[in-house]
Order: sequence, then C-alpha cells, then structure tokens
Amino acid sequence: MNILIMGMGYVGVTTGLVFAEQGLNVTGLDTDSMKIQTLSEGKLTFYEQGLDDLLLKHLKSGNIRFTSSTKQAIRDNNIIFLCVGTPSDKDGSADLQFIRGVAGSIGKYMNEYKLIAVKSTVPIDTNYKLVHWIREAQSTPNEFDVVSNPEFLREGSALQDALNPDRIIIGSDSSHAIDMIKSLYGKISAPFFVTTARTAEMIKYASNAFLATKISYMNELSRLCETIKVNISDVAEGIGMDHRIGKHFLRAGIGYGGSCFPKDIKALLYTAKEHNTDLSILEKVYQVNQTQYSHFLNVWEQKLGGFSHKTIAILGISFKPDTDDLREAPAISIIQELLEKQAIVKVHDPIAKLPFGLLSSKLQQFDSLEETLDQCDAVILCSEWDEYKLADWTQMQAYMNQHFIFDGRNMLDSKQLIKLGYHYHGIANE
Ligand code: UDX
Repeated sequence: MNILIMGMGYVGVTTGLVFAEQGLNVTGLDTDSMKIQTLSEGKLTFYEQGLDDLLLKHLKSGNIRFTSSTKQAIRDNNIIFLCVGTPSDKDGSADLQFIRGVAGSIGKYMNEYKLIAVKSTVPIDTNYKLVHWIREAQSTPNEFDVVSNPEFLREGSALQDALNPDRIIIGSDSSHAIDMIKSLYGKISAPFFVTTARTAEMIKYASNAFLATKISYMNELSRLCETIKVNISDVAEGIGMDHRIGKHFLRAGIGYGGSCFPKDIKALLYTAKEHNTDLSILEKVYQVNQTQYSHFLNVWEQKLGGFSHKTIAILGISFKPDTDDLREAPAISIIQELLEKQAIVKVHDPIAKLPFGLLSSKLQQFDSLEETLDQCDAVILCSEWDEYKLADWTQMQAYMNQHFIFDGRNMLDSKQLIKLGYHYHGIANE
C-alpha cells in the first residue's frame, strides 16, 4: 500500500514517519517547495525531538520521500492522509481553504480508487462536504472513500504520542475503508473506536475542549487560591488521586497556548453559534484563558512595585517546553504587556527564537541564561524547560539586580529558592 501524506506540518511529518517506521511506503507532499527540499535533505522545518533521527533513518531505508508534484503524488498513491492546517478565520471559524484546495487536486488528478483519511481537525460535516468537493472536481467518476481519522499527538512528544496513542478513532460508514485504515495501524497497539465521520469530528473537538476546560478550571481556581493562600499544586495532586478526575491537565499556570486548543475552542464555539446553541462553559474556558496571564502579571507587578523601567527576564517563550512553536504562546502576550508598561525585556529560550521584527532596544533575546539575567530585577518563567529547573540559581543570583522570581508554571523548587534569598512567587503556590 502506498501512502500519500498531504501537508508537511507537525501532524503530517509525524504521521508519515510513523507509517514509514511500520515498513509502509510513504510520500510526503507539500506545496511549499522549500519545506520539501529541507525534508529531502534530512532536516525538519520545526523542532521536535526524536523525529530528526527517524527522518534520516527512513530517507536512507527508502520508506519515505518528499515531493511537491501534486498530480504525480496523487496518481502514485492509493491511500491519502489529509494533514493540512485548518487555522482560525477572523470570526473564529476553522478556515477550510487548504482542505478545499487538496480536495480539488484529489478530484482532478485521481485516476483510480482512493481512500482519503482526514487527520486535520475539521468542523462537523467537513468529511461529508469533502466528498462533494472531490466529486465536483472529478472529470472521470472514479470511486473513493473518505474516513475521519483525527490525530491527538502533542507537540514536544509527537513521536511518542503517535506511536502509543490511547485510541485510534475511525469515522466512516464504509467497512472496506475501515478495514484498510485498521490494517495500516496493525503494528500499533491501541484500541480502535469506530463510529460515524460526524461523531469522529466531534470527538476531536470535544477532547481538546475538555482538556482546555480542565486547565481553565484549575487556572480560575488558582486565582481564589492565590488570594486565600491555598497551594493549587497540592489541590491538583489531591483531586487528581480520584480516578474519576484523573491527574493530568490539572497544572495551573499562565494559560494554555499552541496551535490547537485556542483555535479549536474558538471553532467549536463558532459551530455552536451557527446552530443557535450556547456552550457557556466553553465560553468561560476561553475567557479565563484570555485573562489568566494578565491576572497574575498584576499580582506580580504589585510584589515588584511596578514594571516601569524595570528589567525583566522572560524564560521560555514557546507555548510549552520541547517545542519552538510560538503560536498563541502566553509569553508573547506577557512581553507585549511588559513593553506597554515601559519595562525593558530580556528573553531566553533553549530553542525558540523571537521574530526578528519584534526585537528592539527594549526587547532583546540572549543565548545564555547569564546574559539574560544580567542586571534583571525579576524573572518571569513562561514555559517549563528542564534547563530552568536544572539551572544553578545560587550562581544566577550574582547576575541579578533584584531577586524576584515569578514562576508562571510552578516548576521551580520554591522552598530552595526562598532559602537562597529569592522573592519567589508562582501561581497560588505559597
Ligand atoms: C494538544 C492536545 O493535547 C493534543 O491531543 C492535540 O492533538 C493538539 O493539542 P499540544 O497543544 O501540542 O496538544 O500540547 P499540550 O501538551 O496539550 O499543551 C497545550 C497547552 O496547555 C500548553 O500551553 C500547556 O502549557 C498547557 N497546559 C497543559 C497547562 O497549562 N496545564 C496542564 O496541566 C497541561
């Protein structure tokens, strides 16, 4: 079976490499020829541990190749995975222009039966619309099936997640298509959940929305805990021991970011609005996340005695550790607010780089922690890279002007830092 992956982002590259690792014959397609050239040379276009070695391994084994020749790629492969982006449109809805684009190409160039699996996160009924868009573009009426097969991998642990999923969702009413998809995942040990395409589409949104709800619940609770001096991390541990609640996604912080949660919550809210339905809990989830970083920035501003003309070090700018992705990263909003408050901002991240256009005399990025902390009045920790946990905070003290640490991820050892003489404040963790 020859597999074509359309769209070489996180999901597309990871999916392609996971299938290549199963011994399948994979082609990665993207219209961005620079991306294709980079991947063909064995280099990733984003930072993700573990994928780089697998890419080199399967370029060498011949199990994977990359191309930007859409017509040939569609003709040569009988199974096509759609992994193109579905970014937020201005009104919050999912922008389906890339899905429509690939549907047009598939319809136009297909010359025999194709199985099309949709991994991209798409609103309810998109699989149904996809059938229509492909048919519209066909000049000869070849048969095809469309299957919803949403992806749940996380950035930073993409490979592990894709190799060890909790479940594989297959949404289709074609038993032939379901069997074919099952056979592709044959070597991966995970239960299948077979359902309709519409339900599969909803499962993806409902999963992300539920996880975001857990986070916003803890984040809102952390505001009360901060005021009444209850440790939110202990609360999380205590409630997480109840199996009905579960211990994951209870970490309070400065809010969730990334390419999925913010976009998918907005898209689900849009779908609800289209159907005149109120998702009031999800509205709140969104609002809490929008205001969480500024709530704690205000708390910390009071502790420091204002940010104006103070030098602030931001540690970790990616939306989470182990990725260089800055999309919807709370650190970026924090930097903007600090600059508005006339602070001088020094930034550090082990991998992620601020866009050159944002840098100025008031905002600079440094490669070493020492340079970043030099003459700083306060540190704000925005993503929990191990490097910050392992840093020698005794040594760091000598570089700083004032010794305030504001831990937006409750990741550092507060007791030790306080013992060292730091003014340490996290998210409701005193
Ligand atoms: C998420 C989903 O987890 C994944 O299943 C889906 O396929 C894509 O979206 P991702 O955005 O890559 O994955 O990372 P994730 O680990 O889920 O973190 C998302 C955000 O939530 C990050 O900003 C993280 O810092 C934040 N988070 C996570 C918390 O604030 N607290 C938590 O307890 C967990």
